[in-house]
Amino acid sequence: GIKSIILAGGSGTRLWPLSREMYPKQFLKFGSKSLFQETVLRCLEVSDISEIFVVTNEAQKFFVIGQIEEIGYSIPPENVLIEPEGKNTLPAIFFGMKEIEKKYGHSVVGIFSSDHVLDKVAMQTISSAEELASDYLVTFGVVPVFPHTGYGYIKPSETCGPGYRVSEFREKPDRETADKYIQEGCLWNSGMFLFDTELFFNEVKKYAPSVFACFENGKDVNEIYSCVDKISVDYGIMEKSDRVAVVKLEQKWSDLGNFAAIYDEFEKDPVGNVVHECDPLMLNSDGNLVYSSCGKLVSLIDIKDMVIVDTSDALLVCPKSSSQKVKDIVSTLKHRN
Ligand code: GDD
Ligand code: MG
Repeated sequence: GIKSIILAGGSGTRLWPLSREMYPKQFLKFGSKSLFQETVLRCLEVSDISEIFVVTNEAQKFFVIGQIEEIGYSIPPENVLIEPEGKNTLPAIFFGMKEIEKKYGHSVVGIFSSDHVLDKVAMQTISSAEELASDYLVTFGVVPVFPHTGYGYIKPSETCGPGYRVSEFREKPDRETADKYIQEGCLWNSGMFLFDTELFFNEVKKYAPSVFACFENGKDVNEIYSCVDKISVDYGIMEKSDRVAVVKLEQKWSDLGNFAAIYDEFEKDPVGNVVHECDPLMLNSDGNLVYSSCGKLVSLIDIKDMVIVDTSDALLVCPKSSSQKVKDIVSTLKHRN
């Protein structure tokens, strides 16, 4: 079977004020389980707990171990890989691949983000691409819905096993280019991959030789991470390699990019509110997403379809339909500081 790497080290800004380092979105619990816990449960469909590796940082280690225990599993301590600092996904994946090779030798490894929503059934599609992975860097594509500029675009060509060869992989194009790709029948990159250890190391050596050299020559993780550049797997190898294949995912997939998407995905109370663990008091209020820290009672009266996120040092109130504009607050804040 395949091994799994879960990436859990990013700190996004689109879910401000939750998405700062203190509140990584993958560990938040709206409803009964966090996205991270759902990700672990999905990986358990294809890997044993001892074959699941989580790449994270010191600050999030506690969540990783604790939330895995909460769902009834215990992850071997050597499978929790701590990065001294985030250097984006290529180094994170390299770190995981190296440890897997150390423990299990030559392997085929699924790479998973910890902040996606995906039906468990998709794991069958992913593991059934195992054979394809010995010749290709396999990525999983979803049918695009609009010209989103935060995703990678994949152009499929001739069929190849359960998927297609990829003639072009383009990370985060501008709006116009994204439009063009959609018209040409491209797929969105889901951000999940299936990599053979050997092929992966070869392609990194070829297309990101400085990253490869840091891992080869560094004597420990601190030395490696102070040497290595910040680069994503998409820019580092997926855009450059001529050995990429894509397998189409038919299941619903979402990378909870904003609060409206979170609202849509999580369990709702009987009147349609999505609330964080600490119950707010609500009178005649429905359709809301409410997050409050447990030290404070939030109460709402006659509030509809709003996002209310209260943290110790920032409060966000906006209509759910304006969730996409939260990033404007973040950039305004950045200019002010
Ligand atoms: N350990 C670790 N260290 N994890 C990281 C780091 C890091 O330095 N940086 C990011 N991650 C984790 C994030 O937590 C997330 O789970 C995953 O890696 C992907 O990183 P993002 O930063 O969310 O990437 P993206 O959304 O901009 O783009 C990727 O995903 C899209 C789909 O959601 C790309 O693969 C796109 O091509 C793709 O369309
Ligand atoms: Mg993402």
